Amino acid sequence: MDAQRLSDLGDQFFAAFRLDEALDAYSRALALVPRHAGARAGLDAILERARTDRPNPRLIELMLAAYADPGANWDAVGWGAAHQLVVGWPNPPDPERLARDELLRAFLTKSLNRNPALERHLLALRTAVARSLVSGSATSELETLAGALAEQAWQNEYLWPDDPSVTGLAAAMFRPPNDARPAQLEEQRLAASIPSLAPIADGVSKAVAAMYEANPYPRWTHLPRRPPVDVRAALGRDFPHAGPVSPPDGPHLEVLMPGAGTGQHPLSVAASYVGARVTALDLSRASLAYGKRMAADLGIDNIAFLHGDILDLPTLGRRFDHAECVGVLHHMSDPKAGLLAISAVLRWGAFLRLGLYGEAARRTVVKARREIALAGLSADLNGLREFRRRVLAGEWRALASLVESEDFWSASLLRDLCFHVQEHRFTVARVRALLEGTGLRFLGFEFNAGSVQRSVDAPAIALYRIRFPAERTLSDLSRWEQLERERPDLFPGYAFVCQ
Ligand SMILES: C[S@@+](CC[C@H](N)C(=O)[O-])C[C@H]1O[C@@H](n2cnc3c(N)ncnc32)[C@H](O)[C@@H]1O
Repeated sequence: MDAQRLSDLGDQFFAAFRLDEALDAYSRALALVPRHAGARAGLDAILERARTDRPNPRLIELMLAAYADPGANWDAVGWGAAHQLVVGWPNPPDPERLARDELLRAFLTKSLNRNPALERHLLALRTAVARSLVSGSATSELETLAGALAEQAWQNEYLWPDDPSVTGLAAAMFRPPNDARPAQLEEQRLAASIPSLAPIADGVSKAVAAMYEANPYPRWTHLPRRPPVDVRAALGRDFPHAGPVSPPDGPHLEVLMPGAGTGQHPLSVAASYVGARVTALDLSRASLAYGKRMAADLGIDNIAFLHGDILDLPTLGRRFDHAECVGVLHHMSDPKAGLLAISAVLRWGAFLRLGLYGEAARRTVVKARREIALAGLSADLNGLREFRRRVLAGEWRALASLVESEDFWSASLLRDLCFHVQEHRFTVARVRALLEGTGLRFLGFEFNAGSVQRSVDAPAIALYRIRFPAERTLSDLSRWEQLERERPDLFPGYAFVCQ
């Protein structure tokens, strides 16, 4: 069987939750074609979910192979790797043995830890390693481990508690270095080279820009390989009730990414959408510069970075064939004004993919924002550390579930999650109101976009089909509204496509 068929077989097993067989099929596909994007994504999704009572040598070997491949999804693999490390953690802790643990070194340098139990172990290990370094008794293996812990600290942007008594070389595991890294210097240089659409004028946009200048979101390190996709054909298949699209004007599919952040999503689009030429727009030069540096590192050149406010898009004098705007409009003072500005630069029939916060899914965050205001915590590293300390110590029981959020684990992620200067939260009714009068037509929600389990119906879709069997397009927002009234937790947030 060839690699593609093995990868497809893996997807079928995965969809049927036959994970051992899926793992075999993906591994065999990768043995034939090591850069096979679909099999890589499938295998990483299994490694992400793998849980065992004790360390599993085969899983560890597969995780090490994933960490050796810059096209693997190290964020996904990190969840499973953290679990393997926790179940294998020596008792009593043995820094010398841990210093020889290949998985630990790879994990620390390539994945951001998101496991609370592992964080406790790592903090104790950091103290022990610092002691050895300070006393001059550290072996070279322990020094390498100190370097890996410093790299983890860099990734979480020094969110772990500081210990001011630690100085010298060991300090790199505790607090930001005095000197900028070469990559940061490069970003400062690149920031000045990014053209501007217009000066930022809107008050909220200015406050949001200041926040992301200080904490570009997210700090990312690698780009998972994705199979090439003809995005318009794929959306046409997913939403057969969509209207026709007009052919691109020139040789490229012009793609607009408003609120591009640090470029992870836009670069993934540039690397995988067939024929795409991407324009990445953002309020934050520091974020765009991060993306521009990563684009150069990854050799991706079909992307241009543009500094400016979504509100000024109509002054650009260009039109786009496709747009994706995820996690952005809810940070504007008037999301509808932002949506109108984006739709004004879309060509007839273009698809627009949107992602918005959900009111129900952010219930705990709303409580966190209240506690932060009451406690007067600042949105800098001190405030973020203190917030985390109280959550992890159980002082705010209502906030305990925040540790389950992907965004609890680095400074820029946590600031974005709980300390944002501006956020709106949506319900289906508010999504409907947002689209009203914009000329955009709602095509449908995306529950499993980008996931290996695309073929599995999300529970919400299954429910809709049972309740409204005659409405086959799943695109009637008043019916979704009705379902949400009955089941307020139906949506984890709103990812949807309109035209
Ligand atoms: C939470 S981040 C999301 C980044 C990226 N879309 C992602 O999903 O990773 C929000 C980004 O939207 C940008 N943004 C917010 N309001 C904007 C506006 N009015 N114009 C341009 N960018 C904006 C911010 O600067 C920030 O980089």
